[in-house]
Amino acid sequence: MYYPEELVEEIRTKNDIVSVVSSYVSLKKKGSNHWGCCPFHNEKTPSFAVSETKQMYHCFGCGVSGNVYTFIMQYENYTFPEAVKALAERAGVDLPEVEYSAEEKKRANKRARLLEVNKEAAKFFYYQLRSPNGERGMQYLQNRALTPDTMHKFGLGYAGVNGTALVGYLKSKGFEDEVIKDAGLATYSERRGLSSQFWNRVMYPIQDINHRVIGFGGRVMGDGEPKYLNSPETMIFDKRRNLYGLNFARTARAGNMILCEGYMDVIAMHQAGFTQAVASLGTAFTSEQAVLLKRYTDSVLLAYDSDGAGVKAALRGIGILRDAGLSGKVINMKPYKDPDEFIKNLGKEAFQERIDQAENSFYFEIRILSERFDMQDPEQKTNFHREIAKKLCELPEEVERENYLQAIAEKYLVSPDNLRKLVRSYAAVAESVRPIERPRSGIATRQSPEENAKKSQRLLITWLVDEPSLYAKIKQYISAEDFTDELYAKAAEKLFSGWGQADFQPASIISMFEDPEEQRMIGELFQTTLPTLESRQEREQAFHDILLAVKQNSYEYYSARLGVDAGALTKVVEGKKALENLARTHISLN
Ligand code: GTP
Ligand code: MN
Repeated sequence: MYYPEELVEEIRTKNDIVSVVSSYVSLKKKGSNHWGCCPFHNEKTPSFAVSETKQMYHCFGCGVSGNVYTFIMQYENYTFPEAVKALAERAGVDLPEVEYSAEEKKRANKRARLLEVNKEAAKFFYYQLRSPNGERGMQYLQNRALTPDTMHKFGLGYAGVNGTALVGYLKSKGFEDEVIKDAGLATYSERRGLSSQFWNRVMYPIQDINHRVIGFGGRVMGDGEPKYLNSPETMIFDKRRNLYGLNFARTARAGNMILCEGYMDVIAMHQAGFTQAVASLGTAFTSEQAVLLKRYTDSVLLAYDSDGAGVKAALRGIGILRDAGLSGKVINMKPYKDPDEFIKNLGKEAFQERIDQAENSFYFEIRILSERFDMQDPEQKTNFHREIAKKLCELPEEVERENYLQAIAEKYLVSPDNLRKLVRSYAAVAESVRPIERPRSGIATRQSPEENAKKSQRLLITWLVDEPSLYAKIKQYISAEDFTDELYAKAAEKLFSGWGQADFQPASIISMFEDPEEQRMIGELFQTTLPTLESRQEREQAFHDILLAVKQNSYEYYSARLGVDAGALTKVVEGKKALENLARTHISLN
């Protein structure tokens, strides 16, 4: 959905960023900014700054930045249109009716209808559980030590033995057979018509991050097969892309997420105060789910069953987390089977201890590996060392590899030198040691020329956003085309034309980009950390250097395109002149 830029901007200006952020984060005014603890990473001292004049925020800890739209997109996990809608509502701005194609309309209607029927079914199950009919289910859940509050929070319910009650109820509410069937709530047969998918089970509604019911899990009370029956995949229920409990866990801000196997585990952990727990949906953990988790955390703790299958699942999970760039740790559940049983027997303090002691995923992998070998047998021991070397080779970064090598050598009493030799010979054969990647934030990292060029472009833009009056002084030397990064050029163009208008705020530019990744980059562009320089002379020198670097880069860029790009020649001629002029010009700051 495309909303006109003016409307997006109107809604933005009607939602003061300080007041919007304040409803999520407690802020204190200090200097020109309002400060609070960053909601996007875990911290104890405030490094999250919200500027009323700029209508932007920036975290000096984790580097996030943006305007009021990106804030609620990140916080509420909204898409851009959802953010526009929410903020429009907040400010009392009417949004135009959407013009969809007939096909889109049909699909949207169908999705909405499936969500409605699920919601109604969840209500039905919920009341059943709390009615005399639901006594058996209530008894079962109470025996599993769930409190009424917990049952309410997760919307737990009960499907009775009458296989047509739900269908009858839903029909009475006006739902068509097709909708009931397509939601996976009932199956159709010639002989019996529609009969409920779920009966004689306690029901766990599965919600998406916006608390909408997208499917159900139903558990038999006691023994019986299958233990859990889940809704089939439907238009709204994608098991690969949702996680049970994420609707609550996403705002837990515990600094980590706990990933487990079962619905009951999630519920037991939440009841014990570990509201950062989520589970996959009766299927194996997927890379899509890892990406989903990455929106909220960098650190995932695995709380898988302590049996063989659980260990296998954990090993698989670790790999998926690693590929998604998440750090994984494994919580030891022994002597219990899963988090639910652990907490029931040892309590939440003991569970917290296990969280604190969670084992680094690499150590976990090596430890599990070690169990396969008999260390008394020299041949097996050697094989074990080879396997360690192989695992070490999977670590892309040299420093990390070396650190683990030393730690593992100490732990398993191997000579580090020998282990290093093994790694080298293994790497030489397998060629699997990837080139060393440099840490992203290192100050001393050597950057590529393109990266350097982009950096000066970022610095210049941030500086201008901070001191818009400078633009008038340099506009004869610089144009949007001098920004050789395409996205930066677009942003510069909007900035430069904006400064020609009254009441222009750079924050408006962020929401002119629809793609969240682009919004993030634009936000970053406006919030680069400028050099802190005391004297005016130093500042003037720095500004001049940055401007010159941008212009120089642009000159080189267009020179290289001579003969390819028709406009390049003009840019080169003009660029040369501007460079010469700039070299002789003093630009004063005040
Ligand atoms: P409880 O026995 O109630 O404590 O269950 P649990 O949450 O400990 O589940 P368990 O570890 O046995 O299984 C983990 C998850 O796998 C469950 O939450 C379900 O999502 C799924 N699951 C378990 N059994 C079945 C089954 O028989 N069929 C299907 N489709 N999924 C199952
Ligand atoms: Mn269990």
